[in-house]
Amino acid sequence: MKFFVDTANLKQIEEAQDLGILDGVTTNPSLMAKEGISGVDNVLAHYKAICDLVEGDVSAEVISTDFEGMVREGENLAQIDDKIVVKVPMIKEGIKAIRYFADNGIKTNCTLVFSAGQAIMAAKAGATYLSPFIGRVDDISWDGMELIEQISNIYAIQGFSTEILAASIRNPLHIVKAAEAGADVCTCPLSSILGLLNHPLTDIGLAKFLADHKKSSN
Ligand code: E4P
Repeated sequence: MKFFVDTANLKQIEEAQDLGILDGVTTNPSLMAKEGISGVDNVLAHYKAICDLVEGDVSAEVISTDFEGMVREGENLAQIDDKIVVKVPMIKEGIKAIRYFADNGIKTNCTLVFSAGQAIMAAKAGATYLSPFIGRVDDISWDGMELIEQISNIYAIQGFSTEILAASIRNPLHIVKAAEAGADVCTCPLSSILGLLNHPLTDIGLAKFLADHKKSSN
């Protein structure tokens, strides 16, 4: 399973990249706004800065909701760097845009996915990645992980090549469960990735090893 970090914060992206386990980055308009990035030129420059930091795919989301606008924005974004994946919302015009981008060699990430039916539509349109939002499904008391399992089964049965990118990850357990459910990629806040490292028995064990080493070397 690939690890993407879900942020537009350059420091966090650098920290994740330094771990040596990072496969890419996802952003969205809310994450860009959180970093205070606004205006077309600043947005494009920020995506370029992210691409320069990481090895893998970088999702950059379109703001338009009509086909022509999405195509115009997506083609602009794709020119920034080969790493750019154009993030397109799961709406009718978005499906048309995903098909256009697929036919023109531009990678896409179909975002705001909450059902298996939507997942089928995105795969049929030729999306590179599909982003089901686990945390937001859980927020309304449904089971986000069941959705990942269902999509994973459908894609395997049907031989769809779209990669399942588990998004809206809120904690380390979400990552473990998404891996179990068959996600190809997890996009997570840095805190959730780092949270995977934690175990009290590791801390206790390491403290004892170091204390014993100190005793024996006195
Ligand atoms: C990533 O592609 C999504 O935009 C993101 O994971 C959404 O996460 P949230 O539901 O925590 O905002």
